[in-house]
Amino acid sequence: MELTDTMNTYMKYASMDRTKFLGPTSLEEQAYCEWFAAEVFSGRGEIVELGSWLGSLTVSTARGLALNTLAQPNCRIIQTYDLFRWNVGFEDWVKGTPYEQRFRPNESFRTLYEEIIAPYRTGASIVVHQEDLSRSKWDGTPIEFLINDAWKTVPIMANIIDNFFPSLLTGSVVFHQDYLWVTESQIQIAMFLLRDYFEFPSRIENSCGVAFRKTRDIDQEIISDLAARASYLDFSNEEIEAAFQWSRSLFDDPEAQLVVDGAKGWMLGAIGEIDRARSVFQDIKGSEHREHWFYKFQEDILRQWGYDYLMD
Ligand SMILES: C[S@@+](CC[C@H](N)C(=O)[O-])C[C@H]1O[C@@H](n2cnc3c(N)ncnc32)[C@H](O)[C@@H]1O
Repeated sequence: MELTDTMNTYMKYASMDRTKFLGPTSLEEQAYCEWFAAEVFSGRGEIVELGSWLGSLTVSTARGLALNTLAQPNCRIIQTYDLFRWNVGFEDWVKGTPYEQRFRPNESFRTLYEEIIAPYRTGASIVVHQEDLSRSKWDGTPIEFLINDAWKTVPIMANIIDNFFPSLLTGSVVFHQDYLWVTESQIQIAMFLLRDYFEFPSRIENSCGVAFRKTRDIDQEIISDLAARASYLDFSNEEIEAAFQWSRSLFDDPEAQLVVDGAKGWMLGAIGEIDRARSVFQDIKGSEHREHWFYKFQEDILRQWGYDYLMD
């Protein structure tokens, strides 16, 4: 799955009769999931979606499954997971829609998710799990496509690798929706440590998304090592240096490389290496691509979230 081949194929789903579904995902990411479900998914395993929120990727994937001619109808299964607890941060994503101010913090929004996905259940069987992904268990059913938009913390990452990754089929695809998002840079470290088992990252246009394809069974030793990580402090300096150097080498686009640098700076800040973090952001300041919207947007968010001290 070379980057160019993938892009040429999935982008047609962005231009089909479709507008973007509501959510913090781009039309291109939605098109990628729809394309995969329609044209690549074979039914050898199930589709798992971590962190579905109001379903922009659930619906896209289900639309794709409805077009699929490779998988038997009874094998078109999406297992979706979310806490379904409202968070004030979600208000930004529903501004100007009928859902604005509909929920109080911590209130369940599962019913709304079920309402949104209901029309798409004819082409796919959608099984909804309301649970905490830092504790979820998987029953061992093979997984062919894993959509991850939930590795917000190290314990979630560790639990998913421990419980779900052993069931990834050879040839399956893991789509990390936030791979190029600076404050979730544990994803880059995990994929570095798993790099011998995955190939060809495909960057999804106009998004932070990157898809990896699994090439062989993952040694249990690596799974157990990652499963034992509980916090950012469980990443060593050597791992951080090597992981972000490797991750940077995956991309030709300077704005993606800058985001990898920002991700490293953020991770160094998270483990208390403030001077080293500041030095990374100082180097970024010297880049001619620093004003690129893709990097700039993330730096603006870091400032909004109080990380100015790493950058000034
Ligand atoms: C960025 S949103 C996902 C957006 C979604 N991909 C879409 O298509 O709109 C992240 C989601 O992860 C969920 N989440 C965060 N921590 C979680 C946890 N520990 N267990 C389950 N879900 C969690 C949140 O409730 C939220 O809906």
